[in-house]
Amino acid sequence: MTQLVWFVTGCSSGFGEAFVHSILARGDKIIATARNDSKLDTLRAVGAQILQLDITASQEQLDSCIKDALAIYGHIDVLVNNAGYLDLGTLEEMKHDRWLAQLATNLFGTINVTRSLMPHFRERKSGVVVFIGSMAGWKGEAVAGAYCSSKAALEVVVESFQAETESFGIKSLIVEPGMFRTAVLSPNNVKSVDSKFQEYKALSDAVIGGTKGYSSQQQGDPHKAVEVIIDIVKQEGKAAGKGIPPKLALGADAVAQMRNKCTEVLKLLNDWEQISSSTEFSQGT
Ligand SMILES: NC(=O)c1ccc[n+]([C@@H]2O[C@H](COP(=O)([O-])OP(=O)(O)OC[C@H]3O[C@@H](n4cnc5c(N)ncnc54)[C@H](OP(=O)(O)O)[C@@H]3O)[C@@H](O)[C@H]2O)c1
Repeated sequence: MTQLVWFVTGCSSGFGEAFVHSILARGDKIIATARNDSKLDTLRAVGAQILQLDITASQEQLDSCIKDALAIYGHIDVLVNNAGYLDLGTLEEMKHDRWLAQLATNLFGTINVTRSLMPHFRERKSGVVVFIGSMAGWKGEAVAGAYCSSKAALEVVVESFQAETESFGIKSLIVEPGMFRTAVLSPNNVKSVDSKFQEYKALSDAVIGGTKGYSSQQQGDPHKAVEVIIDIVKQEGKAAGKGIPPKLALGADAVAQMRNKCTEVLKLLNDWEQISSSTEFSQGT
């Protein structure tokens, strides 16, 4: 199998860190990035190339990082848009700047890093882009509207991107993980806006407390997750010969959540079809 060069965002912990170890174990090359690159010293020691990258940086700074990355091995084969975080709060109580910050990282940062690498992929007429979405993008959960919307928007952006790029050799998939035991729910990483209003307080406290309390309890193993993603990109192991799907539920909980959503939407469409479809001009008008 050809040796690939991977560029991965958000490698200081979780999936990103797991990608580094698994990619190196497959004999591939990795350029691992983090907004605080001093957190990546142990990954450098095991053979990763390291660059500093905050995905919310300006387009010029992102372009410059990609230029530096391309200088390392001369090309990049796979981009993994992994960096992201979770901010919790109700629509009413989470202020506009917090919504913007959540979308600036999970959505616009991801789009902008991809935009910086696309000239290289277009020139080579090849490249794989992996987007890390979430099952949360398939269902708006209470107190998690900012995070869920960032991942839901990414879902549709990726569909548009796929329609724009697959004709000239670019492959991409959005992975929709369920709950995996990374640092994503760690009380240090989860941002939250505590509720002041009696109408929301019980629900909000339960969601925020429950989310942080679930850290380290998740059933999903991040190393198994990245092994599956690498198998798909490299067409190895269980994924050999299956091609790259446009999207992939990852974890039994993600499969269930996405299936439930599809079932609910189908039922809604069927139940309301007569009314929904009653709005066209009458024939002859
Ligand atoms: N674990 C799950 O259950 C789960 C489920 C669905 C989706 N996801 C998604 O999986 C991705 C990876 O998260 P994880 O679960 O591995 O959690 P994690 O261990 O908390 O890792 C998140 C990574 O993103 C980085 N990051 C955050 N903001 C960044 C920015 N502006 N620029 C660059 N890096 C930034 C963090 O870096 P710092 O160390 O600098 O904060 C960290 O390296 C995220 O997109 C997350 O939404 C996770």
